[in-house]
Amino acid sequence: MQEFCSSVALLFLLQIQYGVAADCNIVSVTSPSASALDVTWSSVAGSSYYVLDLRVVNSTIIPQIKLENISFTQRQVQGLRAGHVYQVTLSAFDMLFYPLCTVSKIAMTVPAGSQITSAQAISSTSVKFTWSTVTGAESYILFLVETFGSSPKEYNRTFTSSSGEVDGLTPSTSYDCYIYSSNSAGRGAKSAIKTVITLVPPPTGVKIIATGKSTARVTWEPRSKVLLYQVSVKDNGNPDKPPVLRSTSSTSMEISNLDPCSTYSVGVSSFNLYLVPGEPSAVTYNTTSIDGVTTVSVDYSCSINMVTVTWDLVSGATKYRAEAVDSTGASLNCTSNSTSCQITTRKCGENYQVRVTAISADCESVSNVTSTFETVPCAPADLKITHDCFDNNIDFSWQPTNNTRYYVATAVDNNGDVAPCWTFDSMCRFTNVDCGQHYTFKVYAVGSGCNSQISQPKYTQTSPCLPTNVRTEASCMANTLVTTWDSSEGALSYTVKAKGNNGETYNCSSPNNTCELEGVPCGEQLSVRILASNDNCSTGEILVNSAQTAPCAPAIVSASAECSPDSARVKWTQNHGAIFYIALAQDSNGNSQHCYSLGTTCVIENLGCGRNYTVKVIGTNLDCNSTASQEAHFMTGPCPPSGIDVFRDCDANRAVIVWQNLQTSGVYTATLADQSGPQLNCTSNTVNNCTIVSPPCGKKYNVTVTYSDGQCQS
Ligand SMILES: *[C@@H]1O[C@H](CO)[C@@H](O)[C@H](O)[C@H]1NC(C)=O
Ligand SMILES: *[C@@H]1O[C@H](CO)[C@@H](O)[C@H](O)[C@H]1NC(C)=O
Ligand SMILES: *[C@@H]1O[C@H](CO)[C@@H](O)[C@H](O)[C@H]1NC(C)=O
Ligand SMILES: *[C@@H]1O[C@H](CO)[C@@H](O)[C@H](O)[C@H]1NC(C)=O
Ligand SMILES: *[C@@H]1O[C@H](CO)[C@@H](O)[C@H](O)[C@H]1NC(C)=O
Ligand SMILES: *[C@@H]1O[C@H](CO)[C@@H](O)[C@H](O)[C@H]1NC(C)=O
Ligand SMILES: *[C@@H]1O[C@H](CO)[C@@H](O)[C@H](O)[C@H]1NC(C)=O
Ligand SMILES: *[C@@H]1O[C@H](CO)[C@@H](O)[C@H](O)[C@H]1NC(C)=O
Ligand SMILES: *[C@@H]1O[C@H](CO)[C@@H](O)[C@H](O)[C@H]1NC(C)=O
Ligand SMILES: *[C@@H]1O[C@H](CO)[C@@H](O)[C@H](O)[C@H]1NC(C)=O
Ligand SMILES: *[C@@H]1O[C@H](CO)[C@@H](O)[C@H](O)[C@H]1NC(C)=O
Ligand SMILES: *[C@@H]1O[C@H](CO)[C@@H](O)[C@H](O)[C@H]1NC(C)=O
Repeated sequence: MQEFCSSVALLFLLQIQYGVAADCNIVSVTSPSASALDVTWSSVAGSSYYVLDLRVVNSTIIPQIKLENISFTQRQVQGLRAGHVYQVTLSAFDMLFYPLCTVSKIAMTVPAGSQITSAQAISSTSVKFTWSTVTGAESYILFLVETFGSSPKEYNRTFTSSSGEVDGLTPSTSYDCYIYSSNSAGRGAKSAIKTVITLVPPPTGVKIIATGKSTARVTWEPRSKVLLYQVSVKDNGNPDKPPVLRSTSSTSMEISNLDPCSTYSVGVSSFNLYLVPGEPSAVTYNTTSIDGVTTVSVDYSCSINMVTVTWDLVSGATKYRAEAVDSTGASLNCTSNSTSCQITTRKCGENYQVRVTAISADCESVSNVTSTFETVPCAPADLKITHDCFDNNIDFSWQPTNNTRYYVATAVDNNGDVAPCWTFDSMCRFTNVDCGQHYTFKVYAVGSGCNSQISQPKYTQTSPCLPTNVRTEASCMANTLVTTWDSSEGALSYTVKAKGNNGETYNCSSPNNTCELEGVPCGEQLSVRILASNDNCSTGEILVNSAQTAPCAPAIVSASAECSPDSARVKWTQNHGAIFYIALAQDSNGNSQHCYSLGTTCVIENLGCGRNYTVKVIGTNLDCNSTASQEAHFMTGPCPPSGIDVFRDCDANRAVIVWQNLQTSGVYTATLADQSGPQLNCTSNTVNNCTIVSPPCGKKYNVTVTYSDGQCQS
């Protein structure tokens, strides 16, 4: 091994140094026998010696076989193991024993020969074999060749196990049998021959005739060259009991001790010369039994859930059993020694089939005549209610029940009023149901004789009724609308929806009969809808009286007396929701005056002169006042001076005019006028008098004093 490896290493070195490239080539490796391999290779130029190395793959099995100094190109290697995989390595060397090349090939030896260990005819056409297994065999090929005959028939079968059966053979025929083991390298050595003879086929025409209650005669056709027959009798109802075997050389046999009401398998087979029986010809034989009843009738009484089964008498029967089988296969029975008995049923809606069994001391006979009956329908189940909140129909449905003619359903409302519905279908439509009702639904099935029990109740609630008397009023102080209504039947809650001209909607809900819509702006006109709900349903929205909120506050544009001592004109902007406006003016003493207008201005009269007034404007829609506008102030025109006196001072030729109510600012003007108009005047802004110098004498004057505050004149 060591040496070999170093040779390979040296070859490798040489190839590198000189670039020598000689090819080794194994042409073939065959296995002429289980212990040999024939190796043939091509001759390698320049080689003088070859070395062959054979070793079992994946194994430490020794010996490894090494043949050296071979000068031919073919060699048979002996002493190998049967059915093993070998690695065959060829190396070539030159004269100086320098290695030239090396090559390997995997090859297998054929398996060792297998031997037939047993061969047994099991019928007239088949033989069973076992054989020894050998290492390295992948399959076994079994050959059967007719022993006699000019052109003997040959059969072969391939197996992978260690036993097998060959059938389709000719009866009563001798076969030479042998076996080969086989693998990919070829077949192992041929086994020794075993001879086997197929058995004799059974006789034909097997018949059984009853000769008594417990005896019968078996007969068959004779088969040529058969001297002895075997009869086997097996009780089919008793599989654990071994068959009774008896042989005869005639072609009939009496059998006895048969049980009544039993089924037997009777087989007749032929013995060969070595007294081995072949396969049987089998027939079944039933021993006599009693007859079954020929009529069965039932009378079902639904009120007591009992069926009476009646039948006719059977000779030999001592007892009868009536059996009622339901659709699931469950059965009820009663027994009697006369011609009727009664069965109590418990299942509703069931179809029963009734059979009667006649019973004798040792035998039972089930009649093939049956009778059926059906029990009372079951109470309908799986109740369903379908109710569309927006129509006034309720569909009440249930699972159809068996054995039913029709159904009676009822709907009972809050007041105990009952609405019936008779139907063939498993559904009833109750129309025109009232709003705000709780209904209780029940149904029962009507059968041919009796009614089913009443179903479980099923409840439902209809849509609530619509609320009435819906009113919506503005709360004048806050931005809210309050809706009130009369509660309606069946409603658990109400929802109010208001839509304004601004496009906004405002909602509120309430369990009682009032709710507040909040955040509604001033001066809105809203359409109002209301709906009522319960746990299942809501009514549709209904439109009710519209509502309006308090008008919006106007804004004062101007307020001015325009020098009038007793009136003032107020102007404002129009705002949403007001029908008319009230302007209110109040002086510092709390005296107030007002005026109305549908427009945007009005004049407040009866004011006092020369006063500082505070004015505000309120819009109103008769129901509500808007909040007041912002305040404005105005002064009425100045009051005329009062307490006027004139003193003539003829000496100084002047007139002094005196008045009261001296104001701190402004100018007083005193005028003397005659028929021809104002003549003379004097003014003062500091004292309560002024003097006109040199008034013409002898004239009569009217004296007037006016006051001007700079803007207005009294
Ligand atoms: C040898 O063993 C290797 C690795 O276990 C496996 O791949 C190979 O098939 C084996 N060869 C034979 C001939 O059993
Ligand atoms: C086996 O028998 C078949 C015909 O039945 C034949 O074609 C085949 O060659 C036989 N095999 C051998 C290995 O003799
Ligand atoms: C014998 O009885 C079995 C079952 O009891 C029945 O299936 C069979 O048909 C019967 N055979 C004859 C020949 O009556
Ligand atoms: C008859 O019914 C009884 C019970 O009522 C039961 O024990 C018995 O097994 C039934 N017989 C047959 C043959 O079904
Ligand atoms: C039927 O059975 C009852 C007791 O179960 C018995 O008294 C009666 O004699 C029997 N009738 C016949 C006809 O066997
Ligand atoms: C019952 O059996 C008898 C005798 O075997 C036969 O004549 C008859 O037709 C059968 N009846 C039914 C309903 O199968
Ligand atoms: C009605 O009868 C059928 C068969 O006969 C059965 O499968 C079904 O369960 C029965 N239905 C009821 C409600 O009993
Ligand atoms: C109506 O219901 C609302 C909300 O539940 C509640 O705040 C209010 O007090 C109730 N009003 C009356 C009169 O019961
Ligand atoms: C009128 O009174 C208000 C406050 O009371 C004051 O602000 C305003 O200046 C006064 N107007 C005149 C013209 O005196
Ligand atoms: C609106 O205001 C005017 C003046 O203050 C008052 O007379 C009237 O009663 C008010 N109207 C309402 C509905 O409050
Ligand atoms: C006052 O008298 C002067 C001169 O005589 C005249 O010009 C003036 O218009 C008079 N004023 C009034 C208010 O009459
Ligand atoms: C006019 O007013 C002045 C200043 O107040 C006063 O002194 C004078 O006496 C007054 N004349 C008359 C006639 O009242």
